Amino acid sequence: MGSYENLLLESPDPGIHVLTLNRPRALNALNRATIAELHAAVQAIAADAEARVLLVTGAGGRAFVAGADIKEMQGYTAIEAQAFARRTMAVLRAIETLPVPVIAVVDGYALGGGNELAMSCDFILASERAVFGQPEVSLGVTAGFGGTQRLTRLVGRARALELLMTGRHVEAAEALTLGLVNHVYPAQDLMPEAFALARSIAAQGPVAVRLVKEAVQRGQDLDLDSACQFEAQVFGLGFSTADQKEGMQAFIDKRAAQFLNR
Ligand code: HXC
Repeated sequence: MGSYENLLLESPDPGIHVLTLNRPRALNALNRATIAELHAAVQAIAADAEARVLLVTGAGGRAFVAGADIKEMQGYTAIEAQAFARRTMAVLRAIETLPVPVIAVVDGYALGGGNELAMSCDFILASERAVFGQPEVSLGVTAGFGGTQRLTRLVGRARALELLMTGRHVEAAEALTLGLVNHVYPAQDLMPEAFALARSIAAQGPVAVRLVKEAVQRGQDLDLDSACQFEAQVFGLGFSTADQKEGMQAFIDKRAAQFLNR
């Protein structure tokens, strides 16, 4: 799936891809080169019909991603900063709308653009030493990769405003109570737990899992009536698949289903 300078893309289990941000000397900060590679990697995974789950994580044990690269951004003009934000937002949107589930696995700092990257994943698993935050105000700017919007949708307006206005660091336990992360594990258990979760998703009907993601991701931006209509369409579509026939027959036969991903 291509070779990268600042990323690792591995597939240790059939259908389970692991994308590792790999610039540990800069705490995996997102410079332009890394963002371009991230885009290419996401496109490669999107083109893989056998993909089931993508895990996104950071190398080095200190950070998921400590934000956009401040040293690179420092000299930007307003127009360059807007272009940088828009380009990266498109990459994060590509992650959010990737057909397969994407799980952020956060051990260490997920700050600024790092938290925004994690929030563009379907959900977040964290280690006990994970630290989240949107510290852009401490640099005299705002979040710029969708953080004002995704954080608000995830934790609610008042809590998002507090975090965006103070820029404070949020420890894993608080992130759990905010609903920012789904689970918190001791650091040594984080990857094994992420794989266990990925495998349990990969064992389900693959078309159905993709349809669930589409119903939730597309439906949340619609009014309830339209969203439920969309769900009915998606539900109906499930009955056109071999996986539906196999899944229901296997239940009746009292055996494990052998899904065909079609
Ligand atoms: C560039 C970074 C970086 C970043 C860390 N580094 N974060 N480089 N951009 N975002 C580099 C440091 O410069 C240092 O390299 C090395 O990584 C280790 O970091 P230290 O600061 O020495 O480590 P520590 O003292 O443990 O502090 C860790 C930290 C701190 C709390 C995470 O590094 C920090 O506050 N980083 C910035 C976090 C941040 O503000 N993120 C938001 C960025 S703005 P050298 O070579 O100097 O020793 C953003 C906006 C997105 O994300 C939207 C844009 C459109």
